[in-house]
Parts: sequence; structure tokens; C-alpha cells
Amino acid sequence: MKGIVLAGGSGTRLYPMTRAANKQLLPVYNKPMVYYPLTTLMLAGCREILLVVNPQDVETYRRLFGDGHQWGLDISYAAQPKPGGIAEAFLIGRNFIGSSRVGLILGDNLFYGDSLPTMAERGANASGATIYAYWVSDPSAYGVVGFDADGQPVSIVEKPKDPASNWAVTGLYFYDSDVCDVAAQLPRSARGELEISDVNAHYLKAGRLTVEKLGRGYAWLDTGTPSSLLKAAQFVETVEDRQGLQIGSPEEVAWRRGYVDDAAFARLIEPIKDSEYGKYLQRLLARG
Ligand code: G1P
Repeated sequence: MKGIVLAGGSGTRLYPMTRAANKQLLPVYNKPMVYYPLTTLMLAGCREILLVVNPQDVETYRRLFGDGHQWGLDISYAAQPKPGGIAEAFLIGRNFIGSSRVGLILGDNLFYGDSLPTMAERGANASGATIYAYWVSDPSAYGVVGFDADGQPVSIVEKPKDPASNWAVTGLYFYDSDVCDVAAQLPRSARGELEISDVNAHYLKAGRLTVEKLGRGYAWLDTGTPSSLLKAAQFVETVEDRQGLQIGSPEEVAWRRGYVDDAAFARLIEPIKDSEYGKYLQRLLARG
């Protein structure tokens, strides 16, 4: 299974934090933001991963992740010359996708919930497109799904003034390889972007869209403003401190899923064993 993490953009709403630093590398409590969506893709079963990033950040991301083999992944990189919309990832990633099904996750989206792996795996293995909707208080900031009386999705509208429901489209999507052609045929929107909502509306019209509702047992947080970034960090800190279990650790996911064995896991820990993060991983290994 292939997956794309979209970590480009200019992060204007987080300025000046993003003046010199890429948004998705900013910390969410104790890890770079991008760790959280990366591990969500790993939990969905994606091991071949393309990072789509700003041209000036390719080397920084390479320093962070390398080729991914240390976590049992195959990570490659592609530059998005300028922010041109989420659906542009399918033009940039066309060769990477080939004839495979592909997952896409936004680099600033944080998902949490006990059944998340099952839910994501279902999308990864389905046909057509699968998207995930989450009840929010301010749907007009997002893509919004409208449902008919039988609960079937009937509309997808990007940032509607008058939302059809409170169900926001989250930043995790799965598509068949047709998505590259769908994206290539889209007109640019009023904001000059290839809109992911237009891709989803296309699949909806073709009767090939599944909308999974993430119920109240899930958290979906985005990190686009100073306040939402702080809230996401506080959420992670609260859960991790209470449980002594971390959210969004690629090392842990790789080890638990058997992508790395105990010996390789120990080698990952060795150089970071004095950090809190390293000590956490050591505790996992000792417990077995
Ligand atoms: C984008 C999508 C929107 C989606 C949101 C999720 O919005 O266009 O449909 O609901 O991500 O985070 P943007 O971040 O471009 O405002």
C-alpha cells in the first residue's frame, strides 16, 4: 500500500513561527507535527511513502526520515514548487502511484482513536474513494459532507457559507489510481488551487465514494493556527502523561507491527537513549 504525506504550504496562519521553519516540522508537544500523520498512514498499512514538501525543505525532511528503512518503510521525496492545492499531490505523485491504490494525509492533521487502524485499513483496502468525516462546531472552515434522510452522502462543498451539516471532511483520504486522471482534469478553483473537495465530489457523482463517519470516540485535530497548535499539544500531553503511552511514534508503530525486530529497535534507541523519547522506547522493549 502506498501513501502520500502532503507537507508543503506556507503556513501563513502560523507566522512568524513559519517564517524560517516549515509548519509540519513544528513540535506538537514532544514530536515534529509530521510524525502524527506519518504514523496514521503506517497504521493503515502504508509502507511505501512519498513526502510532498516545499523545494527548500526536501533536504530537511531527508535528514529527519532518510529513506525510511530504519522503520521498515520506503520513503521518497517530491517537491511541490508552490502551494497549488491538495489534489496537486496526485499530479506530483503520478509516477509514484502508478497503478496502486493510494492513501493521502495532510501533514498537519492529527487523528486519534482506538479503532483508527481498523478504520484506516478499511479505507486502504476498499475500492473507489474513502474519506472520513468528523463532527465539528465550525464546519464552514472545511470541506463539508451533506447527507440525505437515509444517511447517504449527497454533496461535498469546500468551505460553504451555509454548511449542509456539521460533518467536516478530514485530511485522510484513500483512492484508486484513477485519482491521478481525475486530478489532471480538474479546473483550478477561485483560490487558484486543485481542490480535494472537487476530487471527492467527482467520486461521489460517479457513485464511487464511501464516507466513513468518525464518531465521538475519535479525536481529529488540526494545527493550522497558534491556538489549535497549542490545543493539539495539550491533547497529546494529557493522554501521554495519563497513560504512559505515546501518540504518533513511528518507531513504536514499526516495532509493534513487526517492521523492525527487537534488535533493530534497540539499535534505533541507542543514540537517543538519554532523551525522554528514547527512555519511553526502551521501556516498551523491556516490557516486550
Ligand atoms: C483542506 C481541505 C478541506 C479539508 C481540510 C482538512 O482545507 O481543502 O476540504 O476539510 O483541509 O484539514 P485547507 O487546509 O486547504 O483550508
